[in-house]
Amino acid sequence: MGFFTRLARGRRAAAPTMLAAMSTIGAVTRNATGESARAMRTMRERIGAVRTVGRRANGEDDMGGFFDGVRGGASNTTTKGRFAGFSAHAVPANGFVGEDDSAPVNPFKIVDEELRAIGERMRAAVSSDIPALSTASEYFFKLGAEGKRVRPTVLLLLASAMTNGVMTTANVGWRETDHAPAHQAPADVRRRQQRLAEIAEMIHVASLLHDDVLDNAATRRGLRALNLEVGNKLAILAGDFLLARASVTLASLRNTEVIELLSRVLEHLVAGEVMQMTANPESLSSMDHYVKKSFYKTASLIANSSKAIALLGGHGEESAQLAYEYGKNLGLAFQFQDDVLDFIGSDSLLGKPTLGDLKEGIATAPVLFAVEEFPELSSLVERRFKHTGDVQRAHELVKQSQGIERTKTLAMQHCDMAIAAIDALPPAESAYANHCRRALKELAKRAVHRSK
Ligand code: FPP
Ligand code: MG
Repeated sequence: MGFFTRLARGRRAAAPTMLAAMSTIGAVTRNATGESARAMRTMRERIGAVRTVGRRANGEDDMGGFFDGVRGGASNTTTKGRFAGFSAHAVPANGFVGEDDSAPVNPFKIVDEELRAIGERMRAAVSSDIPALSTASEYFFKLGAEGKRVRPTVLLLLASAMTNGVMTTANVGWRETDHAPAHQAPADVRRRQQRLAEIAEMIHVASLLHDDVLDNAATRRGLRALNLEVGNKLAILAGDFLLARASVTLASLRNTEVIELLSRVLEHLVAGEVMQMTANPESLSSMDHYVKKSFYKTASLIANSSKAIALLGGHGEESAQLAYEYGKNLGLAFQFQDDVLDFIGSDSLLGKPTLGDLKEGIATAPVLFAVEEFPELSSLVERRFKHTGDVQRAHELVKQSQGIERTKTLAMQHCDMAIAAIDALPPAESAYANHCRRALKELAKRAVHRSK
């Protein structure tokens, strides 16, 4: 019986309960509205139970014995037969020399070569022989305009964090750019996972192009927004074109479950945007509505792509669900910290004016918490801060309330849940996989400790 199979059998009793507790947006909302500490305790206990069962099932602790001969040894290549030819992952570039829990981990550095390679692929994927279309669709894929590429970084790290020996690219230069055409089915797992990272980034950029038209934005990624450069019509069509090209790549994966997950993301992005745009006064003051919208707009893409990465890696439903939980909670933690920074950040650090949400008529978590202390805020929320002085008054009341602190706590809770999901994965099968898990946890911490 394989290592993962033994582990999965051991975990079976506890895991469904935990997953049920973790996976609903309802649970997130309850966290937001007062039962947070209890919900977190319960989840930690459940994850703890899963891990205990996991250890008992295979007779080892997380790492004990399993990586002997790997940790600190001259060779990082595992001796397990099914990892034959897996040394490119066990001895990666980018400064990784073995697992040392105290050494700082740089998530972006681990994947920088692979990011460069998929950046090159994306530039090819979004070009067109129609000059105006090419100019528009290539705009945010040019060197220097690519942004932080957080989504591909998370997805590639997750792919490596969950390696179980099914990857076959170790010997075929998986860090080099894959020049195969988008419609051609990639032969191996890592290439398919890289394509998923491309798809997620292309969907993200498409959604930003559409969003900037809807918001009449002037800047994006330090550049003039595309809508200002080429007009609304071409900016929208460029977004559609990116989605079309992403769809061809998605089809090349020949995996209907993954296609379904990513199609669901598109639905969620549109739903979240329309929820925000059309909320009635009651919904505008509802934390449930707010958290659901945030999931749709911000967290669904990374949650569903994370699950897709796990499925493409050949992992079972339980591990895939943990990948989903990591992505979902990372996305929500990121969004809630964004809400905090919109109140307490600095214009120059953020690259955009603070209080942007209030000015756009959107009540985010700090305001919704503040309403509980200052009910007079309700009417301002319901009229989307449209009257003269509303933005300033709302800002004053939020500052006097616990709203910002409570939102920070909420972000921290989601950061903790993201970390707990990584910790609940079956034990890492290589020191490198473990290193990538540390990087994923580091990303979750950075999401809530950032100031921009
Ligand atoms: C940023 O919101 C926008 C999104 C995260 C998603 C927008 C989704 C759509 C416009 C629906 C269409 C979707 C596709 C796939 C074409 P924001 O305005 O709150 O953040 P910002 O400050 O980055 O603009
Ligand atoms: Mg916007």
